[in-house]
Amino acid sequence: MVTTTAIPMEVQPRLNPELYPLPAGTPMLIRPADEADVSAICDLVNGFADQNLMLHRTPAQVRHALGDFLVAEEKRRVVGCGYLARLGSELAEIRSLAVAPSHHGKGIGAALLQALEAMARAQGISQLCALTLAPEFFIKHGFRRVDRWAISPKIWGECVYCPKFHACDEIAVLKEISNPPPHG
Ligand SMILES: CC(C)(COP(=O)(O)OP(=O)(O)OC[C@H]1O[C@@H](n2cnc3c(N)ncnc32)[C@H](O)[C@@H]1OP(=O)(O)O)[C@@H](O)C(=O)NCCC(=O)NCCS
Repeated sequence: MVTTTAIPMEVQPRLNPELYPLPAGTPMLIRPADEADVSAICDLVNGFADQNLMLHRTPAQVRHALGDFLVAEEKRRVVGCGYLARLGSELAEIRSLAVAPSHHGKGIGAALLQALEAMARAQGISQLCALTLAPEFFIKHGFRRVDRWAISPKIWGECVYCPKFHACDEIAVLKEISNPPPHG
């Protein structure tokens, strides 16, 4: 982590520190996404999708999920994103979690994951899951590998649109989350 930069005054009202806690010293803002972020989110996610690391997202898909998206912003540039897809009363999936390659390894992915987890807790969610090619990243944050078929079939709702549908190499991970969080 490096030093904390000042959060621009105009975006401060959009940050709810209780819902979106940042690790001390994290040099950027995690905030809910808005319409102005759609194109940056698509660029970020689709850059990785072109490398077969995640699913592509169209602007329409991002707009549809916009209320559930968080972005990491540094110097007014979106450098990370992710969203929470509610799959049931107790289960939600982390989707489109991505950090700009130029910003990898600075804790932004962890901060987004933590913020999405806080968002899930606030919604009464008790289980978080993800389908990912980066299971170790999630395992470091309390997830465990699970049999993909053990999770609600709703997690596969998107898979029919995936070019890798018949040769899926993604790994399912799951985390039980308590409400409120165990450590404050
Ligand atoms: C996975 C990702 C979101 C992590 O973002 P980040 O900001 O670099 O993550 P952090 O800085 O919080 O954490 C970095 C740690 O995660 C690990 N990590 C990052 N990507 C990883 C991967 N693909 N597989 C395993 N571990 C990974 C790093 O090795 C590092 O470990 P360390 O702390 O022991 O050095 C980012 O690498 C990314 O955007 N990847 C491409 C998209 C993707 O695979 N998303 C996953 C969800 S589908």
